Amino acid sequence: MKLSSANINVMVKACRKAAKVLIRDFGEIENLQVSLKGPGDFVTASDKKVEKILIEELQKARPKFSILSEEIGEIKNDEEFKWIIDPIDGTANFLHGIPHFAISIGLEHKGEIICGIIYDPIKDEMFVAEKGNGSYLNNQRMRVSGRSKLKDCIIFTGGPKRDSKDKDIVLKEYNNFSSEVLIPIRKLGSASLDMAYVAAGRCDGFWQRNLSYWDIAAGIILVKEAGGFITDFKGNNEYIENKTILVTNSRINKEMIELLK
Ligand code: IPD
Ligand code: CA
Ligand code: CA
Repeated sequence: MKLSSANINVMVKACRKAAKVLIRDFGEIENLQVSLKGPGDFVTASDKKVEKILIEELQKARPKFSILSEEIGEIKNDEEFKWIIDPIDGTANFLHGIPHFAISIGLEHKGEIICGIIYDPIKDEMFVAEKGNGSYLNNQRMRVSGRSKLKDCIIFTGGPKRDSKDKDIVLKEYNNFSSEVLIPIRKLGSASLDMAYVAAGRCDGFWQRNLSYWDIAAGIILVKEAGGFITDFKGNNEYIENKTILVTNSRINKEMIELLK
């Protein structure tokens, strides 16, 4: 079955167009002009090109929607609808020639994410979701995993960023968690794909501090529509304000909260 609505079609088209540039640039990675934005956080010429194409395409189809995009910031317009864009999520991987990064676009309506797309151009994997209509990977319905015992799980995390204030707490959480549960914990370097993989049931949970809205906007609806849970580390709904996110299948949420205390 295919997830197809007017907004989803607009997002898919924009993604496919931008992905052509991204794939070409990935093939020429050593020729890219790279500028340093801050420790651990690179902006590439590709990033800007991809963002430009995405914004042009989205604006062409929906001229009145507002935009929040990582590199250019906010374009204010219709307050009710807003595209939330991360042109390349997994920039460090991209720069190092590691084929694990994605384009991520969420659509917010009155403060709630109602559509999301995360596209991994190298693996040609398109994760899409729409409120009330489910989550799909390349037109196949996705569901979060059914694993209920942490010992059988794989968990993703990310960070800390070198310049972040809470890097010590992030390292402590990681050490506590890993020494307690002794299960595979992975840092794959793309928060949007981490969330898409929870939605697809490939991994069972993901936690991270200090994320930005564009890292998680599309992932939020993908996970929700696949039957997963999203909270902050205390189990509350305030993950966007707190920039601290815990994403799980429907079974291990409580146990994860206990372990992250
Ligand atoms: C980063 C990735 C990474 C996460 C960082 C993000 P970027 O986004 O999602 O997995 O650990 O916190 O900033 O910089 O590649 O768009
Ligand atoms: Ca990002
Ligand atoms: Ca980015």
